[in-house]
Amino acid sequence: MNRPVVTGGAGFIGSSLVRGLLAAGAGRVTVVDNLLTGREENLEEVRGSVELIRADIRNYAELAAALRGAGTVFHLAAIPSVPRSISDPVPSHEVNVDGTFNVLRACAEGGVRRVVYAASSSAYGGSEVLPKVESMAPDPRSPYAAQKLAGEYLARTFHLCFGVETVSLRYFNVYGPRQDPSSPYSGVLSLFIRSLLERTPPLIHGDGGQSRDFTFVEDVVDITIKAARARSAAGGVYNAGNGGRYTLNSVWDLLQSIEGVKIPARYGPPRGGDVRHSQADVTAAARDLGHRPRFSLEEGLRRTVAWHRDARMKKSGGS
Ligand SMILES: NC(=O)c1ccc[n+]([C@@H]2O[C@H](COP(=O)([O-])OP(=O)(O)OC[C@H]3O[C@@H](n4cnc5c(N)ncnc54)[C@H](O)[C@@H]3O)[C@@H](O)[C@H]2O)c1
Repeated sequence: MNRPVVTGGAGFIGSSLVRGLLAAGAGRVTVVDNLLTGREENLEEVRGSVELIRADIRNYAELAAALRGAGTVFHLAAIPSVPRSISDPVPSHEVNVDGTFNVLRACAEGGVRRVVYAASSSAYGGSEVLPKVESMAPDPRSPYAAQKLAGEYLARTFHLCFGVETVSLRYFNVYGPRQDPSSPYSGVLSLFIRSLLERTPPLIHGDGGQSRDFTFVEDVVDITIKAARARSAAGGVYNAGNGGRYTLNSVWDLLQSIEGVKIPARYGPPRGGDVRHSQADVTAAARDLGHRPRFSLEEGLRRTVAWHRDARMKKSGGS
């Protein structure tokens, strides 16, 4: 891969993508990140092959300088949280919409050939039809969902009007190593795993019957790299999911059985902006990108639990 740049590359998914790009033969990867939720330590053992540019995608001049000479840009930088977009909508709009516009503009002006954009399954919102197919009308139910959808539309128009080859991938509930469980806005599985390892009951918002297409981060990395290469994908929007569907209650059951413990969950009021069910149709991604998910939920959870256990031991000074 020619001179790849990953915005948000110090974050959860971005730092796995950086590793995936290096493993796929990129000699060096540039990361553009303001370290809002990302961390330098996420890039620890690959640091020698990474140029980390601390820049804010809201600052056009800084960003354009950072993207100069890039071959492919993977745009993952965002404030990626539904509840945060409701409690504090201005920064998430500025980063997710204005920042995305800046990235696309800098790519068009700098002659970047392809941009792969991290879109979101939240675009499908309230529609009850399952699985979600890319041709369905979007129905965003939160500022975050609307912002990520606006990014897709911007990406497509930059393809149509300015010739940038954009590909949008609607990521479905990604989980895996380096997902940060330390904030109330964190992904549900990282919070579940923290509860599991601390032997405390997790808090489930609503009745736990809501379901998600949980997708292991390695599969997301795989489809993201394929999207950068697939010739026919330019201008397209693709689901990046596993194709399965699990309720929160069943995932908590599975985690308990992996760990051999019994810890009843606590239940609280449902969260605003949450959708009830989500599941990806993965036909178009298989056809156009040649992508087939490799990880079952159980295998992905086992690897993620093992990573968190190891990270906690390192932090506490154990071996
Ligand atoms: N995690 C999921 O389940 C999921 C689902 C759908 C879509 N996505 C999308 O995937 C992308 C990555 O999400 P993630 O889960 O890895 O989250 P993350 O918070 O770990 O990563 C986001 C990264 O963007 C950086 N960032 C934030 N604001 C910035 C700014 N103004 N300038 C430069 N960098 C900035 C953060 O520091 C962080 O490193 C996001 O675009 C998100 O919307 C994630």
